[in-house]
Amino acid sequence: MPNSSPWIPQLTDDGSFTFFSDEFGEAFHSRQGARAEAFQKFAQATALVQKAQQDRVWLLDVCYGLGYNTAAALETIWAVNPNCQVELYGLELDATVPQAAIAPPLLATWSLTVQTVLQQMALTHTCVTPFLTATLLVGDARQTIQSLCHQGFQADAIFFDPFSPRRCPQLWTIEFFTHVARCLAPNGRLATYSRAAAVRSAMQAAGLAIGTILLGSTHLPHEWSQGTIGSFDGQTLPPLAPMEQEHLQTRAAIPYRDPTLSDPAEVILERHQQEQVLSLLESTSSWRRRWHIR
Ligand SMILES: C[S@@+](CC[C@H](N)C(=O)[O-])C[C@H]1O[C@@H](n2cnc3c(N)ncnc32)[C@H](O)[C@@H]1O
Repeated sequence: MPNSSPWIPQLTDDGSFTFFSDEFGEAFHSRQGARAEAFQKFAQATALVQKAQQDRVWLLDVCYGLGYNTAAALETIWAVNPNCQVELYGLELDATVPQAAIAPPLLATWSLTVQTVLQQMALTHTCVTPFLTATLLVGDARQTIQSLCHQGFQADAIFFDPFSPRRCPQLWTIEFFTHVARCLAPNGRLATYSRAAAVRSAMQAAGLAIGTILLGSTHLPHEWSQGTIGSFDGQTLPPLAPMEQEHLQTRAAIPYRDPTLSDPAEVILERHQQEQVLSLLESTSSWRRRWHIR
């Protein structure tokens, strides 16, 4: 039988696999390492080693995909405190993605305990064990987040991992971030790989203070940050460098908007472009020249 799945595993530099989405024109993870990205940009950035000291930890995985951010979080928490009770929600539009992600050899990078979690989540959209209650909500995250808000879910850590703003602007708007921030506990942290000024300003408009995810030992020459962390008080977050702060004063910082949480991507992009054309803010190209960014 030919394999009819559109999800063909692609090897990344750390030996773990990712998928490529033809619909969004993008890979699901950094080519430098899917597994490494999940640990560095999500589990570490949300300070899960510290949170794992608690008896219970609440997690929200926005854009669950292959489940790598969930997997890295569980590995991190249970390495510190094997008795920590985790309550987790994942939001994902396409249930075929987690299903394809449990085929060999993709799971091999995770511990046997976490492999079982990923399998259960993919096959039944739920996983209940003595130390975990996890639910995968399948649908547009702009809708599913609303049910979490209504039930008062409060996450200690939110992994925010949509495709990039140009490809999937509907999940980077002020309105969506506002709903996601309602699901963040007062001392919680939200982490995303994006360092885009439009993303950072939308997070600020949603009431979050922001910090940067500092570069690790290996990074590409043009990179200045690995992403963004949000929290309500901003304390203990690595501060933005002056160059990053000035980025927020340029036209690149005009955020995406989706007033009814239902507009198609093209409408959101068009609205954003119109706002940029009319803006009196400094152009992003002059900011780039000033900071010698190619
Ligand atoms: C960059 S990938 C996420 C990778 C994932 N965190 C992982 O570790 O494998 C983006 C994911 O967002 C999902 N997605 C796209 N649009 C969505 C939407 N409106 N609501 C929820 N999920 C969406 C895609 O199906 C894809 O799985």
